[in-house]
Formats: sequence, C-alpha cells, structure tokens
Amino acid sequence: MTTKTTPFPEGFLWGGATAANQVEGAYNVGGKGLSVQDVLPHGGIGSARSAGPTPDNLKLEAIDFYHRFADDIALFARMGFKTYRFSIAWSRIYPNGDDAEPNEEGLAFYDRVLDELEKHGIEPLVTISHYETPLHLSDAYDGWVSRDLIGFYETYARTLFDRYGSRVTYWLTFNEINSLLHAPFMSGGISTPKDMLGEQALYQAMHHELVASARATRIAREVAPNARVGCMVLSMPVYPLTPDPADVLTVMDADHANLVYGDVHTRGTYPGYFLRTLRERGIELEITDQDREDLTHTVDFVSFSYYMSVAETADPAKKVAGAGNIMGGVPNPTLAASEWGWQIDPVGLRIVLNQFWDRWQKPLFIVENGLGAKDELVDVDGVKTVIDDYRIAYLNDHLVQVGEAIADGVEVIGYTSWGCIDLVSASTAQLSKRYGFIYVDRNDDGTGTLERFPKKSFDWYAEVIATNGASLTR
Ligand code: BG6
Repeated sequence: MTTKTTPFPEGFLWGGATAANQVEGAYNVGGKGLSVQDVLPHGGIGSARSAGPTPDNLKLEAIDFYHRFADDIALFARMGFKTYRFSIAWSRIYPNGDDAEPNEEGLAFYDRVLDELEKHGIEPLVTISHYETPLHLSDAYDGWVSRDLIGFYETYARTLFDRYGSRVTYWLTFNEINSLLHAPFMSGGISTPKDMLGEQALYQAMHHELVASARATRIAREVAPNARVGCMVLSMPVYPLTPDPADVLTVMDADHANLVYGDVHTRGTYPGYFLRTLRERGIELEITDQDREDLTHTVDFVSFSYYMSVAETADPAKKVAGAGNIMGGVPNPTLAASEWGWQIDPVGLRIVLNQFWDRWQKPLFIVENGLGAKDELVDVDGVKTVIDDYRIAYLNDHLVQVGEAIADGVEVIGYTSWGCIDLVSASTAQLSKRYGFIYVDRNDDGTGTLERFPKKSFDWYAEVIATNGASLTR
C-alpha cells in the first residue's frame, strides 16, 4: 500500500526497455538474416560499416538474450515491471526484408518471449523497427531512400499485427524516427554515404518512413482493433545559449527540425514551417495522393527517449561541438555531463513533457531514459553487485520531474528505463557503457561469462514501482 502521496496515476506503466540488436545476439541463428547492426562493429554514429560481420562486433552475441530471455524476464518480474519494451528484429521475421514469406522460426521466438511476459503479467510494448533494417534492403535498395521500403515495412508490420495483435496492445512504429537525417545508415539503412547523398534523397527517405509509420497505424486498426500505436521520437530540449533573439530564433529552428515528426504523426499533415524549409532548400518531395491519405492516420500516443538537453547559438564563433546523442547542439555551461559527455538535466524532462503535451494533447510515454556509466562489480557479503548510487540519483531526479509534469496536468502513461539490463551501446557499440539494473558479465573485448548480477539500483527501482513512485526522494 502506498501511504505517501504520489502524483503517478494508478495503472502507470513502470518498466524497462531494450532493443533486439543490443541484447539478443544469435545474429545468424533461427533463420535470421543480417541487419545493418551486424556490420556496425563500432557503433552507429560517425563510424564506418564493415563489409560483413566481424568478430569485434559485440552485437553478434550481445548479452545472449535470445537464449536467456526467460531468466531475464523473471528478473524484470522480480523488480515488479508492469511493462517491458523490446523490439522485434525485422531480419528475424523477413531475413532479407523483401522475402515473400516470413520466417516461422523467428515468429515463434517472439511467441515464446510473449509467453514469458504473460506468465509474469508484464504488458509488452513492442518497437517494430529499432535501428535494425535488414542489410539486404540497404544493399539492394539504399534503404529508406527507396519507396519500395514502404511496401516491405507494411508487409512486415501486417505480419506482426496478424500474429501478435491479440497479445500486444502497445506498438511503436520506428525508434527515434527523427534520427534518420543524422544517422542515415543506422536509422534508415541508407547505404550511400551521408556526404554523397544529397538532401533531396534524405528528405524523401524521411517522407517514406512517415508514410510507412502512418500506414502501419492504419493497418493495426484494421487487423488488431485493440492496438494502441505510438510514434517514437528522440527528444532533446534546446535552450538558447544567450537571450539574444538570434539565439532564440536558432532554437526555434532546431526545435522545428525535431518537432516536425511528432507534428506529422499527430496532425496528419506537414506543417508550414517544414514546407518552407523544403522550399528554401530546393527540395521537392514526391508525395502521392495515397501518401496524403495514409498520413491522416494519426497515432494514439507519443513516445520518446530523453537523455539530455542541449544549448544552441546563432554565433558561429561559439559553435563548439558537444558530445551529443546524434543531434548535436552546443554544451550548456550550467550542466554537468556523464562520462560520455551527455549533459544531465532532469528539469529538461519536465520541460519536454509539457512542451509535447501542450503541442499535441496526446498521452505521452517515456520509453527511454537512463545513465550510461562505467560500473564496478564488487563483493558485498559474498554477493556480487554494483553500488550504483550515481544511477539511482540520476533516475530518481528524472522521475521526480516526471511527477512534476504529471502535477502540471500532463498525461503520462508510463516510463521504461533504457537498458534495464546491461546491453551493447548503440552509438559506440561498447558494453562498458552500462545502463542496467542488472549487471551482465561481458566486457568490451568480448570476454566474460554473461552471468547476471542485480545492482543496488535493482532493489531501489523495485521499491519505486511497488510504491508507485511514493518512495522517490524529492
Ligand atoms: C537511443 C537509442 O538513442 O539511445 C538506443 O534508441 C540507445 O538504441 C540509447 O542505446 C542510448 O544510447 P547509447 O549510444 O548510449 O547506447
């Protein structure tokens, strides 16, 4: 029983999140085809792809969730998870992406994952595509630059809704759909190097993903009437570096570049500021009548990741590079940063929740948030664990701000902490960038037993969930 007051509503979906390519491993098992991640040994931002899978790619084995999922889900259940966000690996279902028939072994694997979740009363939250486009679609079609991808994605999504629609309520169409322009290969399977691509092709790829997302939403409603479909965007509040109106205007432009994805998903049409961007850059999108109709199928909720805020300036002399998560921006001198340079800003989460709610009036789901940090496994009374007070402080402070936003009147339906079990980083492909409540014994050089050890934050999060947020320290 919760005795202290808590702003979190009854039924709030507490849980954790992962993505197939970062946990499953078994990259060539059970009929799975290669995905873009299988050729990104050093991460998805700014590093080159390899010709094929190479032994230094930690994602090929990852944390072997493919064989250990039942035990891992049992650990999530011990923390009291109400929901678990995971992604389905597209190339497990359609190994090449353009196959005529799905791979039954891949489908059966996710049946078993869903069985385990049901056994523990954990609500699945499924990402249809999380940075793992089948490699063949990249090699043969240049990924989302090609309109053909809409049809392949439609077939894939329909297969998932047909198979799991009676068991899965919450669906996300594309992970961080707004990262496409920044990480075209990882996010959009686009094989042409970014500097050779040209904006016309990039924006056309963006349009194709938006249409595919809306089409999946439409199909879900036909095939699985109880489905609730959300978009998923990378959120990053942008602050002006100074009160100079030129800086504020730069912030407005940066905001627009991020918000356009949510605008289209919630309003069903492109906003005027975006059409202006296209005009001024000389981009003419190919938009069919069918595309326009598809886009009107708007989402039920908006989900997003939140790790940090950034600052922006109009002054070229002050434009120093920040170690941002994909999007860039300049460092904010008032904020501390993680070991990877990501600036820590709990209040930014309240700000972004209010901004999204004011703008879209759709229920909001925080589906990623957490601290990537180096952990040290220690022995406490014969039990191996990690004393991760820094992670507890980070999560506590962010969740307090979620509570503040709820008190502001924002409708928040859930929170899934990123990397609830240690996994391979997306940007750097390291295992030493750990987010989990559960330590996984695997190192950056690939050594380790893959054994799991609950960290101090494991019990802390269990208490937060059991008290529906009342145990948070304000
Ligand atoms: C998000 C991605 O950008 O951030 C995840 O959706 C990713 O896949 C997470 O893991 C954290 O980033 P990183 O680079 O620390 O793994």
